[in-house]
Amino acid sequence: MCGVFGYVGKEDPLSVCLAGLEQLEYRGYDSTGIGGICKGEIVFCKKAGKLSLLKQGLDLPPLEIAIAHTRWATHGRVNDQNAHPHLDGSGAIAVVHNGIIENYDALREDLRKEGARFSSETDTEVIAHLISKHYQGDLVEALHKAIAWLKGIFALVVIHKNHPHELYAAARACPLSVGFNDERNEAMVSSDPNAFQRPRLNVLFLQSNEIARVSSSRIDVYDQRLKKISKKTERLEGNFQPPAKGGFEHYMIKEIYEQPITIQKSLFGRCNGEVQFEELPPYFLNKIKQVWFLGCGTSANAGRIAALLFEEIARIPAQCEIASEARYRTPLLTPETLVVAISQSGETADTLAAMREAKKYGCKTLAICNVKSSTLMRESDAGILLNAGPEISVCSTKAFTSQLAVLTLLTLYFAQLKKQISPKQLHSFLEHLRAIPAQIQQILDTASDLQKLAKKYADYEHFFFMGRRYMFPTACEAALKLKEISYVNANGYPAGELKHGPIALLNPRFPVVAFCANQQTEEKISSNLMEVKARGAPVLAIASEPQENIGSIADDLFRVPHTIDELSPFASVVAGQLLAYYIAKERGCDIDQPRNLAKSVTVE
Ligand code: AGP
Repeated sequence: MCGVFGYVGKEDPLSVCLAGLEQLEYRGYDSTGIGGICKGEIVFCKKAGKLSLLKQGLDLPPLEIAIAHTRWATHGRVNDQNAHPHLDGSGAIAVVHNGIIENYDALREDLRKEGARFSSETDTEVIAHLISKHYQGDLVEALHKAIAWLKGIFALVVIHKNHPHELYAAARACPLSVGFNDERNEAMVSSDPNAFQRPRLNVLFLQSNEIARVSSSRIDVYDQRLKKISKKTERLEGNFQPPAKGGFEHYMIKEIYEQPITIQKSLFGRCNGEVQFEELPPYFLNKIKQVWFLGCGTSANAGRIAALLFEEIARIPAQCEIASEARYRTPLLTPETLVVAISQSGETADTLAAMREAKKYGCKTLAICNVKSSTLMRESDAGILLNAGPEISVCSTKAFTSQLAVLTLLTLYFAQLKKQISPKQLHSFLEHLRAIPAQIQQILDTASDLQKLAKKYADYEHFFFMGRRYMFPTACEAALKLKEISYVNANGYPAGELKHGPIALLNPRFPVVAFCANQQTEEKISSNLMEVKARGAPVLAIASEPQENIGSIADDLFRVPHTIDELSPFASVVAGQLLAYYIAKERGCDIDQPRNLAKSVTVE
């Protein structure tokens, strides 16, 4: 999704901004742009397409200061004009923006009546004109007046030709960080602090209509009443390592192969004898009577599995809600509800908005997240880190299995507190859990079998993925992987539901991938497989080692190691990830940056 970056300091602003954009690329984008000040004039270059295209056509003179952008189109097509930066009518101001201005149409009309001319279809251009309208020599003041007119969310970085040594930044409900290092005499602004690539950096986060004036030696922050405030800074320790594929062809396959380790990291220190989370004092959970999981996409699929686990093992009413829907319900939330917001990035706008909404009901909020410095971790009452390391591929893989590991432990933690599990049962459960990384390694070692299956199934355009109980959300997650990187139509269904409508679609060109590893429902899913076969649809089953019967029904079979039902999603989903990866490869797709998608979805 859109990324903003700005630099002021003694290094070449153009090179620093280009390096910053490279760090933002993984978020997913469709255009890039860079602008700056040279000899009192704003200059810029912007291009639809990959950053490499922008670099090829760059002909900017030496810059004194620069701002840069990766765009993920919301308002207006993907073309050069709509890429950022956007300028005001006089060309004195340049703006890069992440977010959405909801009332841009009305503002645009008003500004047009006052004589403004627009050269793009974007909501961002309105901001440049508004700032210009209010500018009388003080850009903080102009920015303050301009953002008061904006409805929606934004992270903005602005430059003005009369202020060639200052970046101006403003944010509302959108991540925006300012990084600075006094010794180096430089400062940077970005929507993602990981893009700073500097060791030992002090970082502050803007929020709630705050405005910053940023020069290489000084940062002034103002609140929404334009009062100067002092902000807490965080130290970003500099074990910064640029992402690398480590010999793999894509980040996705590298991250799939990391899972035996990343799961161990999620478990580390949290299940010695009994389950413990130093992040969670017991009093935090004592009065909890129900749990609400929130998330989007993959994180919501993890939440669905967690809701089943909570109900079954901890015996606490639990449900998972897609964050973008949760916000608009009239939920029966109380201060005795624990809201668990699950997010790899911690910046997903829908998840943040739903969590903020839940807080209004007095709910306690817990973030389960992979990024320590994220907005979600900062705004929740408590947070548990996944420790999976940076996930670069847009298609989430290792974050999902780490989410499952942490959510399983969280279930057991609650079960302990509520005395719903005996020490013996807990011991046995943890034994199975500790065996999961080795089981996943077993699957990775037989990945070539899935590669062969992928060759066979790569030409189909439609799939159903089906499963029962724990295998239903697992099937949904595997289907999500396939559709997002292969662009084939793959939908997850509860296996029993097919005959209530979707089965009408089945034919020999419409395969079904059946996730069967849930022992409790083995007989039922066998019958569902027969129903599918009777309609001539090819069947690829992913079943566990003892499930003999499934093998005799399915056209193709991939075996996963046996475990208890509650933990069956781990191995099965890894098989699904590999299948999706190899099918996408067969189809020649852009695996790490699939079209139309963003890693961090920072608009609602
Ligand atoms: C997963 O492969 C997706 N790219 C997507 O569904 C993702 O899980 C979703 O956007 C939520 O992201 P988050 O975990 O960072 O909140």
